[in-house]
Amino acid sequence: MQQNPYVDRVTARFASQFGAQPQLVVRGPGRINLIGEHTDYNGGFVMPASIDKELIFAISPTEGNTCEVIAENLNDSFTFSTDRLEKSRKGWPNYLMGVVDQMHKAGRHPGAFRLVFGGNIPTGAGLSSSAALECGLAFCLNELYRLGLTTLEMVKLCQAAENQFVGVACGIMDQFASMQGRENSVIQLDCRSLDFNYFPLELNGYMLLLCDTAVKHSLGSSEYNTRRQECEQGVAIMQKKYPQVQLLRDATPAMVEEFRSEMPANVYDRCKYVTEEIERVQVASELLNQNDLKGFGQKMYETHDGLQHLYLVSCPELDFLVDQTRDDETVLGARMMGGGFGGCTINIVREDAAEALVARLSEAYQNQFGITLKTYPVRITNGTGPVGG
Ligand code: GLA
Repeated sequence: MQQNPYVDRVTARFASQFGAQPQLVVRGPGRINLIGEHTDYNGGFVMPASIDKELIFAISPTEGNTCEVIAENLNDSFTFSTDRLEKSRKGWPNYLMGVVDQMHKAGRHPGAFRLVFGGNIPTGAGLSSSAALECGLAFCLNELYRLGLTTLEMVKLCQAAENQFVGVACGIMDQFASMQGRENSVIQLDCRSLDFNYFPLELNGYMLLLCDTAVKHSLGSSEYNTRRQECEQGVAIMQKKYPQVQLLRDATPAMVEEFRSEMPANVYDRCKYVTEEIERVQVASELLNQNDLKGFGQKMYETHDGLQHLYLVSCPELDFLVDQTRDDETVLGARMMGGGFGGCTINIVREDAAEALVARLSEAYQNQFGITLKTYPVRITNGTGPVGG
């Protein structure tokens, strides 16, 4: 595997800053999701993978309570005490302090550390740089301080850090993918039982390409939390007749239809999308098993349509990029990816046509929005772990 140049950069910075080599060097990857969007917190299915956009962590334990952290890309630093964790206005330190906070809550008490981290996950692009940050640190502290946490415990702890310390009510997908990914495989995860399997992804002449809108509409996290509440409202309405419905996973599109007149229009639309998406992922999964990439790509377009028209988490930039591919036979599927309101689209593109597609999309996007399109071909890698391990 080609080594990320950030390994040298981050370890060199560690050495110059702290006058010693780091005791441990870890990589924490970002993630993609093939299909199954906004289903994780509804107990549904997702199909994510960890990718070759990653953060590198160079870390050593240190005496006392004071942690010193350097964010190499941001050229920023932060110091905090392990026994006094307070939310910072800077943003990024909260993902790290949130992890330490959750470890304390779980009765594990890692000591202080010196850390330099940096890498190539674009922030705000919907590739879960935040999950990479949380998972990377959790892994480091678990190793350095022999906390004995299992991988799944770390995944849950990182999600809780984001929910409680950062204040985003995210589901479990991002942390699961960043921590548990496997090279060349997608994870087929049931977010209710947390049962999962690795599915080797054979793209046979096709590749995964991300197109970054380079926009991040500020609505993002407040609307995300609103979507969760709307889903819960739908569950409460259906529960009156069907007490077994605890999550939208337990409902079907037909049940949602039955309650249409009792649901506010927004709640109906959200529940319709989620129940359809949960079914769609299962069909898509079957298509993948049969090696029907074309059929799978169609499902990606259907997901996008639902996110655009029913779940209302897309934006003109994402819609434009997806629309531009609809009549292009070299693209099997495209859709917005992640939470929405900006970030990337994910595309399945014929390898030999990718260059021409990038040129065409870049020009069209520039003309339409005056924004330079960034594109990232992605490779699926292992999840969080020691560099070289
Ligand atoms: C964000 C959240 C995830 C998931 C996706 C939407 O990435 O962090 O938990 O809900 O949005 O599928």
